[in-house]
Amino acid sequence: MNEQKRPVIIAGNWKMNKTRAEAEALAKAICQAAEGQRDLPAVVLAPPFTSLPAVVSVCSGSQVKVGAQNMDHRDAGAYTGEVAPPMLVDLGISYVIIGHSERRQYFGESNATVNLKLKAALQHHLIPIVCVGETLDERENGLTDAVVSRQTAAALADLERSQLDTLIIAYEPVWAIGTGKVCEAFEANRVCKLIRVTIANLYKDKELAQSVPVLYGGSVKASNIDEQLACSDIDGSLVGGASLNANEFISLIKSGQKRISLQAAESCS
Ligand code: 13P
Repeated sequence: MNEQKRPVIIAGNWKMNKTRAEAEALAKAICQAAEGQRDLPAVVLAPPFTSLPAVVSVCSGSQVKVGAQNMDHRDAGAYTGEVAPPMLVDLGISYVIIGHSERRQYFGESNATVNLKLKAALQHHLIPIVCVGETLDERENGLTDAVVSRQTAAALADLERSQLDTLIIAYEPVWAIGTGKVCEAFEANRVCKLIRVTIANLYKDKELAQSVPVLYGGSVKASNIDEQLACSDIDGSLVGGASLNANEFISLIKSGQKRISLQAAESCS
């Protein structure tokens, strides 16, 4: 279990799902479940752009925060179809997912664009959730550690230590996304730890690395989350499919809550 008092974060990436009415209903159910709860993890909902204003409105005044799934790194201009960081800030968005493997795979995002987007998010005080993770082919060829370290280092290129206060990283093995093939908790924890070692080496600063929350993502559901959250280097979950159903996502939030309560009890004993 996380002994560093890092926050526990349960984030739902709704991907390209939900109309505005559906998004509102789902957000309402989650906000209602969160109301008045103690020991709540940081709960983040990341609907499609079209539903962001509606979900921000539903979540305002609640403990639930809203994130975007992507953004451009530039502030404005002739970039048809893109959404700029100041537009997200203007809507009241607090988080942004950067470099999801589906963006890398289908929309040509590279380590270089991830770095530009991360810098833009930090500049605009959006809390970045930067995704890293290997493909099945890379895993089978023994390249997991090299790929994850390289993606982490490239995302952080040219960033000062002082800029990383709000950084969140999500380890999402590509082969575990939407496949039902969850990465064993022990192995997910090992790679999350490797991400921290990479940060510690980059900045020659173990304390900094220990302060960065690292989430696991890839077929997270009610039946496997507890095992993941029991691991010392996994601080929460980035959830796709299971975040689209209110009851399922609420049970994931409850698992996060359970972990926080256990942590509090341990620190008192
Ligand atoms: P699934 O939970 O559907 O595997 O998706 C994970 C993911 O990609 C979250 O960003």
